[in-house]
Amino acid sequence: QDTLHDLAAAQGRYFGSATDNPELPDAAYAEILGSEFGQITPGNSMKWDTIEPVQGRFDFTKGDVITDFAQQHGQTVRGHTLVWHSQLPGWVGSLPSAQVETAMTDHITAEATHYRGEVAAWDVVNEPFNEDGTFRTSPFYTAMGSDYIATALRAAHAADPDAKLYINDYNIEGMGAKSDAMYDLVSELLDEGVPLDGVGMQAHLAIQYGFPYQMQANMQRFADLGLDVAVTELDVRMQLPADAAKLATQSSYYGQVVDACLAVGRCVGITIWDYTDKYSWVPSTFPGEGAANLYDDDLAPKPAYDAVRTAL
Ligand code: XIL
Repeated sequence: QDTLHDLAAAQGRYFGSATDNPELPDAAYAEILGSEFGQITPGNSMKWDTIEPVQGRFDFTKGDVITDFAQQHGQTVRGHTLVWHSQLPGWVGSLPSAQVETAMTDHITAEATHYRGEVAAWDVVNEPFNEDGTFRTSPFYTAMGSDYIATALRAAHAADPDAKLYINDYNIEGMGAKSDAMYDLVSELLDEGVPLDGVGMQAHLAIQYGFPYQMQANMQRFADLGLDVAVTELDVRMQLPADAAKLATQSSYYGQVVDACLAVGRCVGITIWDYTDKYSWVPSTFPGEGAANLYDDDLAPKPAYDAVRTAL
């Protein structure tokens, strides 16, 4: 039968999954990862603390394993992520403010140059906003104000002119204060001629919080600016234990995300934040929650998998 990616590709989209290095020796897992999905995102191995744990000392080993896997399986890669307040090595936060910009542009230049031609799209800046739409504090914001975002995008473009450059965040899937702030930011960046190709909507959803408000219309307003939109980290968690009713709600959420993306011409694809509950980040991050993915702990497809197939 057609894979999820085949079904998406027939409509000009990709369907991808996050993955992580410790999972790849699991042969049954790697078999599905390599066959069902047309795109992969490294869950951790291209983050700053992995790539440049000590200033000026770069280690691309883990990221290279992911790009190699992708090449062997004919998959594209979303690079994740160049500038983020989290999983940032301590030395960045300890720098005098005057040195942060150079450290940031050096990091971007080295990483985007290393992966030039291997990474189709970069999450250049990840999670710049607080929930109320104000800018999140980080060593970058403290040193440069919100200009760090334009500076980061320009550095990434100089290093890899062909990669699609994104700003990525969560809780911007629906209309609201945070997505309004993203809309204002990207509008300004485009007005200023800053290289920016798309907005990434993480889409870490939870059935107890409801489906994002007007997701399709929200995606469409970004598309109308001339930007691509991507669903970059989709999962739908619930309070455990899972039951049939919760799994049905979850299925409907997954289906609605696919519907929204397919309804927006510039929604280029969907990435799920790993495809199986076996390797989900949810249980360790949100205690008592889980069962967020399309396949269960035994790598068997769940009702949500069928809902995605149907929606595609
Ligand atoms: C998560 C990873 O999946 C975990 O393994 C890690 O411990 C923490 O980060 N938003 C993002 C991702 O942009 O990088 C996060 O990934 C999940 C939330």
